[in-house]
Amino acid sequence: MKDQAPTAPQTVYLKDYTPFGWTVEDVHLTFRLAPESTRVLARIHFAPAPDAPKQDFFLHGEELTLISAKIDGVAVQPALTAQGLTVSVPDGPFLWEAEVEIAPIKNTALEGLYMSNGMYCTQCEAEGFRKITYYPDRPDVMSVFTVRIEGDAPVKLSNGNPTDSGEGFAEWHDPWPKPAYLFALVAGDLVNHPDRFITTSGKDVELNIWVRPGDENKCAFGMEALKKSMRWDEEVYGREYDLDIFNIVAVDDFNMGAMENKGLNIFNSSCVLASPETSTDANFERIEAIIAHEYFHNWTGNRITCRDWFQLCLKEGLTVYRDSQFTSDVRSAPVKRIEDVIVLRARQFPEDQGPLSHPVRPESFQEINNFYTATVYEKGAEVIGMLKLLVGDEAYYKALDLYFDRHDGDAATIEDWLQVFEDSTGRDLSQFKLWYSQSGTPRVAVDETFEDGRYTLTLRQHSPDTANQTDKKPQVIPVAVGLLSPDGTEVAPTTVLELTENEQSFTFDGLTEKPVPSLLRGFSAPIVLERTTTAQEKTFLLAHDTDSFNRWEANRDLARDCLLAMIVEGAGPDQDWLDSLTKVLRDDTLDPAYRALMLGGPSNSDLAQVLFERGHTPDPDAIYDASETLAQYRAELWVDLLPRLAAEARVTAPYAPDAEQSGKRALGGAVLALQTRLDGGKAAQAQFDTADNMTLQLGALAQLVRAGQGEAALATFYDQWKDDRLVMDKWFGLQIGALPPAEAVSRASALTEHADFTMRNPNRFRATLGALAGYHAAFHQADGSGYRLLSDKLIALDDLNPQTTARMCSAFQTWTRYDDNRRSLMKAELERIKAKPKLSRDTDEMVSRILNA
Ligand code: PHE
Ligand code: ZN
Repeated sequence: MKDQAPTAPQTVYLKDYTPFGWTVEDVHLTFRLAPESTRVLARIHFAPAPDAPKQDFFLHGEELTLISAKIDGVAVQPALTAQGLTVSVPDGPFLWEAEVEIAPIKNTALEGLYMSNGMYCTQCEAEGFRKITYYPDRPDVMSVFTVRIEGDAPVKLSNGNPTDSGEGFAEWHDPWPKPAYLFALVAGDLVNHPDRFITTSGKDVELNIWVRPGDENKCAFGMEALKKSMRWDEEVYGREYDLDIFNIVAVDDFNMGAMENKGLNIFNSSCVLASPETSTDANFERIEAIIAHEYFHNWTGNRITCRDWFQLCLKEGLTVYRDSQFTSDVRSAPVKRIEDVIVLRARQFPEDQGPLSHPVRPESFQEINNFYTATVYEKGAEVIGMLKLLVGDEAYYKALDLYFDRHDGDAATIEDWLQVFEDSTGRDLSQFKLWYSQSGTPRVAVDETFEDGRYTLTLRQHSPDTANQTDKKPQVIPVAVGLLSPDGTEVAPTTVLELTENEQSFTFDGLTEKPVPSLLRGFSAPIVLERTTTAQEKTFLLAHDTDSFNRWEANRDLARDCLLAMIVEGAGPDQDWLDSLTKVLRDDTLDPAYRALMLGGPSNSDLAQVLFERGHTPDPDAIYDASETLAQYRAELWVDLLPRLAAEARVTAPYAPDAEQSGKRALGGAVLALQTRLDGGKAAQAQFDTADNMTLQLGALAQLVRAGQGEAALATFYDQWKDDRLVMDKWFGLQIGALPPAEAVSRASALTEHADFTMRNPNRFRATLGALAGYHAAFHQADGSGYRLLSDKLIALDDLNPQTTARMCSAFQTWTRYDDNRRSLMKAELERIKAKPKLSRDTDEMVSRILNA
């Protein structure tokens, strides 16, 4: 019954949604754990759902060996397929009992029940529960779970509250009805970092972070982040925690970042374990954000879940939005906004302008795992941000209260979500809803006139065709605008223009001089602003804009334009821009973190993206060369400024991963990169030799490798950290990212042969091959060696781990943008992957969509 021939990939459509024909009254599961042969006993009460359409009784189930099945105590013989079972059932309520056998030790896909370093753990989102037992594995089927775990592992955890335990067993009961994707079980030899939290209403909650012995000294930061998140959600959204216990478990082998299982969050160990010696500032910030994200899901995702997987953005867009708010509050709001936009442009824009483009709420899929995308998450969060901007803060929180009130315990839809806003604000959101159904990045062009003290802005929107979508309608685009007078004072504070037509004009009266507009402040909508303007205007904004995002944006535009001129016209660096930037860098009233961001420019792939948007064929070598030339020029230009900035960036206090110190270290890191171009690695070597935290150590190592001086340091670093798997991931990735492009490919290839490389650990695979795929000039080597190496490894990984393989195929999503040579090389690799025998459904869908470009 296990070896059914896989059927051809099936497409699932949003429009076909039908409710399940039964409700699940309760679920009792018993696990008898054994690596090769775990038995799962299920006792489930079903009752006919009065309003559901008539249907056969079908339960999902994959890769299960059915031992026995009973209905109301009588043995039955269900009809089995590779997807599940059907069986005839009584007209009324009945008890379903099934015993199945699974082999967690053989589960390399890391979906369902699997083993990681001898520890049992589960991953059920999106459709992994069907690999544990037969069940209606869909998010709109919610039930109360009681779980008994039998086995000799000292620690045995599941969702909800512990109810009983003794020699060889533990029992858990989760009183909150939940979909199966939120089920979790963990059993192993684990140690905990305990704490407690008293909620506003006085509930005493036990908190634990569970880790492998030896990692207990890396939990304190995560625990603080958890308590901060719990407090923040009470204060800002009025949401309290709802169980007696909250457990977090760190797992080494995990496909994603972390998972919000009810009361038992499971984390990729890279997203929870932290110490100054082994984690960078960026790691700390990310860990804090992910802990918050998963915790916030308790309300946005768990208490209110999704009706079906098309509604994924209902929980993910909102929860990303909430975690961004949290990070803005506990760190720096301007810095966080800039960081978010950098990520959006780097990941979501290319996705939305290529073959993988899809709406925030997709309308069809083959494999839902392929839709955990930047569009659903990051653009989904931007949509919430726009909604909040349009209705205002007060109305937003009022609407959220209504949402929690009205839909607590529901599996909801985007329609439900928008209805709440319509009901509480009286606003018609039908046009706004297009943000959920129309894919693509809208473009907004700007014209201006000034006459008799009246300044007029004319905005025109246009949404290019995308994969499977043409003839787009105009969307509601909130464009936040401020006006500056030529002397630099703000004459009109930020106002939000609502662009709803294809073309629309907005006027500002009573001005004495033609103002300079600061457009799309705070990046108020996820669009491309097409404004042809002078470099002087941008330089002016760089010097005077009161909106910190747009000040940064002006600099980024200037950096981009400078590089584009160097690439396309062979121009030299733009001295006027650099002079203005110098002033900003010298301004020690500005946050070091902000100045560090000012030192960053568009990445090579950002430049490729802009070149493509403007009708050019990006040349990866030319992009790389121009970026290197500009960096060298800047280093020489700032030879006197660098030591001064380095001094400002110095931290004398004991290490803390807070916003202030990490801002300084970020500035110091950017300065060291330039300094290394002048001193050949002297300063970097000194920093490497004395560093007492990973941020400084790794920063120095990267510069040494970049300067061609890194081999000894790489060896030292290896010896120091070879037993720490998370630090070793950094070692794998760093050298690939820091070597010149051609060497990076051969180094990546060599590293896949290293004794510490393994295909079985997604972190290690991503550290190595992801570093290659993320290094534009290396991946796009004209001889195709980068493409070839990645596809070789993806083909090998597909049998083990389809989910990670499929996600990493997106490295090829921009293939049609490049020259004929690179196009045909990439196409050949995509076809080679596509032709692999027994290609997984995940990878097949991704490669087919990409090839369809
Ligand atoms: N739901 C998780 C999150 O965003 C992500 C995830 C999806 C993890 C699928 C595992 C599998 O928080
Ligand atoms: Zn999430």
